[in-house]
Amino acid sequence: MQNRLNHLAIIMDGNGRWAQNRGLSRIEGHKKGADTVRNITIFCSQNDVRYLTLYAFSTENWKRPKEEVDFLMKLFYVYLKQELKTYLKYKIRFKVIGNKEGLSKKLQDTIQFVEDKTKHFEGLTQVLAINYGSRDEIIRAVQKLNEKDIEINEENFNNCLDTADMPDVDLLIRTSGEIRLSNYLLWQLAYAEMHFTNTYFPDFNSSELEEIIIDFQHRNRRFGKI
Ligand code: IPE
Ligand code: IPE
Ligand code: MG
Repeated sequence: MQNRLNHLAIIMDGNGRWAQNRGLSRIEGHKKGADTVRNITIFCSQNDVRYLTLYAFSTENWKRPKEEVDFLMKLFYVYLKQELKTYLKYKIRFKVIGNKEGLSKKLQDTIQFVEDKTKHFEGLTQVLAINYGSRDEIIRAVQKLNEKDIEINEENFNNCLDTADMPDVDLLIRTSGEIRLSNYLLWQLAYAEMHFTNTYFPDFNSSELEEIIIDFQHRNRRFGKI
């Protein structure tokens, strides 16, 4: 029996190095990365993946130079406005995880608008992690449990995470050759299979993704059993 890929998570890394290797500015790498996002999202929607969770901006990424942060925030806004037609065409539900309060009102409103327009779709859900940090998410979940005086157990805790309605991650991919999690989905990755590729994210494509998925389908997932 092949493993079923319900939830694929990707740490989209290497945009800056991709651009610098070509003598371009880092923002050109982010622009090209946005094209990769569109291509692999369409691939996932046509290949029966239910959740695709993409790490777009971490709680630590605010420490980057202001120009890069400003550019990325603008890119999210422009990307979302422009991608709405792709979501409608392919019937993709859109959702954001992360601390939305830290984002501009304009970006928050756009996120809300696109989430509302696509919330009835039942195929792929594309989840963008923006201003996301797993530790921040965990602390916010604990605060919610505390405020509402809810009993602390795995199920209640899980239901207070940003990913409450989503299954655990089945497969994590990180591009660019770095082998670390960088504060991504620490709880949700408990039993995920992992794949690290040297490809920089702008060069990542659906044929490499397909090979990784085929490898995943044949892995022996034991979940502690024998
Ligand atoms: C990932 O690419 C995208 C974001 C973190 C927004 P990077 O910008 O981290 O690219 P590198 O790792 O510097 O090459
Ligand atoms: C992780 O990439 C965050 C995103 C892909 C959005 P980073 O490039 O920020 O991670 P580190 O700093 O190399 O660990
Ligand atoms: Mg990086």
